[in-house]
Amino acid sequence: MNKFLLLAAVCLSLAACGGVDPNSPQGKRQAIFKDMLKVSEDLGGMLRGRIAFDESRFAEGAVKLDALTRTPWQHFPKVQEAGGETRAKDDVWQRQERFQELAQEMEASTAELVAVAANKPLREQALVAPMKKVEDSCKACHEEFRAY
Ligand code: HEC
Repeated sequence: MNKFLLLAAVCLSLAACGGVDPNSPQGKRQAIFKDMLKVSEDLGGMLRGRIAFDESRFAEGAVKLDALTRTPWQHFPKVQEAGGETRAKDDVWQRQERFQELAQEMEASTAELVAVAANKPLREQALVAPMKKVEDSCKACHEEFRAY
């Protein structure tokens, strides 16, 4: 094997060149989680006065977050992958049922947020509790299943 091929093989197997391969399951789910963070921070920011509250932006954001929360789980392969850069604990694979349960609670909480946000005219006050539930869902899973 010449040097170039050897390097390419190392890059493929370890994602050692430039971090996580964006097309790997890890890369895909991490990108989705980043999007989820961005959207949820904007929604939370609107309710906390960091960003101006805008009725339609909030409703659109809720729909977007709800769609996103349905997508990362498929990128956790049934069998734990080796290597790479993941913050997923071994528990994700050892306690798959519990992981799925928290994933479903996440989806239920964003669905509820969408339902509340569809009731126009929107009152910011009515959104506080369902938004907190969404944020608590993220936190609950990270505490159990994310390394740090
Ligand atoms: C059912 C479990 C679960 C839920 C719910 C969940 N996460 Fe995560 N999240 C994880 C795991 C596991 C990782 C580590 C993934 C990895 O590194 O392979 C992670 C990683 C992340 C990361 C880091 C991504 C990176 O750059 O590596 C962010 C940001 C994040 N989650 C945001 C959120 C937000 C925001 C929510 C709620 C809207 C949320 N997560 C809900 C399990 C969850």
